[in-house]
Amino acid sequence: MVVVIAGGHGKIAMRLARLLAGEGHEVRSLIRNPDHSGDVRATGAEPVVCDLESAGDDEVEAAVRGADAIVFAAGAGPGSGAARKETVDYGGAVRMIAAAKATGVRRYVMISAQAADPDHPGDEVFDVYLRAKGRADAELRGSGLDYTIVRPGRLTDEPGTRRVRVADRLPRGEVSRDDVAAVIAACLAEPATIGVTFDLLAGETPVPEALAGLAR
Ligand SMILES: NC(=O)c1ccc[n+]([C@@H]2O[C@H](COP(=O)([O-])OP(=O)(O)OC[C@H]3O[C@@H](n4cnc5c(N)ncnc54)[C@H](OP(=O)(O)O)[C@@H]3O)[C@@H](O)[C@H]2O)c1
Repeated sequence: MVVVIAGGHGKIAMRLARLLAGEGHEVRSLIRNPDHSGDVRATGAEPVVCDLESAGDDEVEAAVRGADAIVFAAGAGPGSGAARKETVDYGGAVRMIAAAKATGVRRYVMISAQAADPDHPGDEVFDVYLRAKGRADAELRGSGLDYTIVRPGRLTDEPGTRRVRVADRLPRGEVSRDDVAAVIAACLAEPATIGVTFDLLAGETPVPEALAGLAR
């Protein structure tokens, strides 16, 4: 499978690229800073410079053309203001949806966030973030693409256990980036996760069993 990861130098993205490349998939990691190429190559992925806030539509389409799946792992990050929640967390995700549709890439896995909601109230930057993520998820659900929307709790850098808790909605909690990457790799391998949106936390259930429970 050829997998394009948007936000390719991100912490989850680098873990996911290593996993997928290790399973023999071809990974194209979209980065905005060419200085990150070496780090990305070390994961086994091919770096492609594509800044989702400044690239032309033709560049974004060229970056995804020929792929079997897209994973949206980009994000403006905790230090950014409200404007970049709009241009990256919402706008970047929507640009990748448009590029997928334009080039015939059917599969799209979104790293969303627990509590993402287009109608989330409030004016703090975090509120704007949750609305941006919720609006991007809604666009993906309405896109006609083969989507999976993964909504992790607070991310940690704890070592992964490959045991998780998933459900339509869960109380607030946390999950390691290692385990988010493992869940995304498993979703790409499991067509039954198409059309599914779920919250993801650390837990006790092995990843394949957790996903099988969701798909039923
Ligand atoms: N933090 C949490 O607790 C939490 C919880 C739930 C969900 N999430 C979501 O999970 C996502 C992934 O998490 P993470 O820890 O892997 O994030 P991360 O390490 O911050 O990675 C995000 C990546 O997006 C890239 N990016 C920023 N602007 C871009 C642009 N204009 N074009 C292309 N790429 C761009 C960044 O590039 P640079 O490397 O060049 O900066 C970075 O590599 C987050 O962004 C967030 O939406 C986070």
